[in-house]
Amino acid sequence: MKKDFLCLTDWRREELEAIFDLTRELKAKQKRGEEHHLLKGKTLGMIFEKSSTRTRVSFEVGMFQLGGHALFLSSGNTQMGRGEPIKDTARCMARYVDGVMIRTFSQAAVEEFAACSSVPVVNGLTDLYHPCQVMADLFTVSEQRPNWRELVYCWIGDGNNMANSWINAAAVFGFELRVATPDAYRPDAAVMERARQRGARVSYTASPAEAARGAHVLNTDVWASMGQEAEQKEREIAFQGYQINAGLLKSAAADCLVMHCLPAHRGEEITDEVIEGPHSIVFDEAENRLHVQKAILATLMA
Ligand code: CP
Ligand code: NVA
Repeated sequence: MKKDFLCLTDWRREELEAIFDLTRELKAKQKRGEEHHLLKGKTLGMIFEKSSTRTRVSFEVGMFQLGGHALFLSSGNTQMGRGEPIKDTARCMARYVDGVMIRTFSQAAVEEFAACSSVPVVNGLTDLYHPCQVMADLFTVSEQRPNWRELVYCWIGDGNNMANSWINAAAVFGFELRVATPDAYRPDAAVMERARQRGARVSYTASPAEAARGAHVLNTDVWASMGQEAEQKEREIAFQGYQINAGLLKSAAADCLVMHCLPAHRGEEITDEVIEGPHSIVFDEAENRLHVQKAILATLMA
């Protein structure tokens, strides 16, 4: 039976850790220049209804390195963009390709696509989740901190798709996660509730300094995500104080790691000094999108 990668909580901890093991193996092979054509002759269709730099490039290059091929489809140039039903697009694409990656707005649309598709579907970001990014983030921490499962993680800023995915990760992996957002911008209530029901160690506070106290990993993201551009100004006001800066780092562990999925708005959610500074691992994080997604694709499609 085919499996999809739509949401971290659809997967068991051991399965996700197996993806990390495969990531390590594939990354080492790629660095040594060894062939690792696990998806020889296979094709990934990539549907983008939102912009992307890292996701598009890492999936496309990843398929090439695995011996396969990737097709870029933007909504403006497909019949989906003109209103063709998701179920028709999904069924037709499955007749041509071996897997599909989708970046779109609604999580329900990705779930509908996956339900109608006979080939695996990967969530490349929705308004609700960004699971591939959090897998790359955790893999990056694991490279730097072998005790990554025992660390205290902290989310500062908007309770967006990345925050929701971190909550799911805390539910699956069991680490402590502290979320600090303005009250009006909390993470998705249902995601939080389901995580708590699973016994996740996730706490909420409106205070970034309280959340960051002694934390080992600080994470943030833009204040206005794709699709929220019209709210930029009101969000800039609402998020004052929700910035990762040198002052906040003083509250965190002395050797804390700072993460950001990128693109970043320097001077808003994070300062230039911190993102360019010694705690920042943002470019390793970006690189690991490639390696982790190759392992996800190989797990689903090989
Ligand atoms: N982090 C991330 O998904 O980046 P892109 O929007 O550039 O794909
Ligand atoms: N929260 C951001 C993440 C971008 C990778 C957005 O959805 O725009």
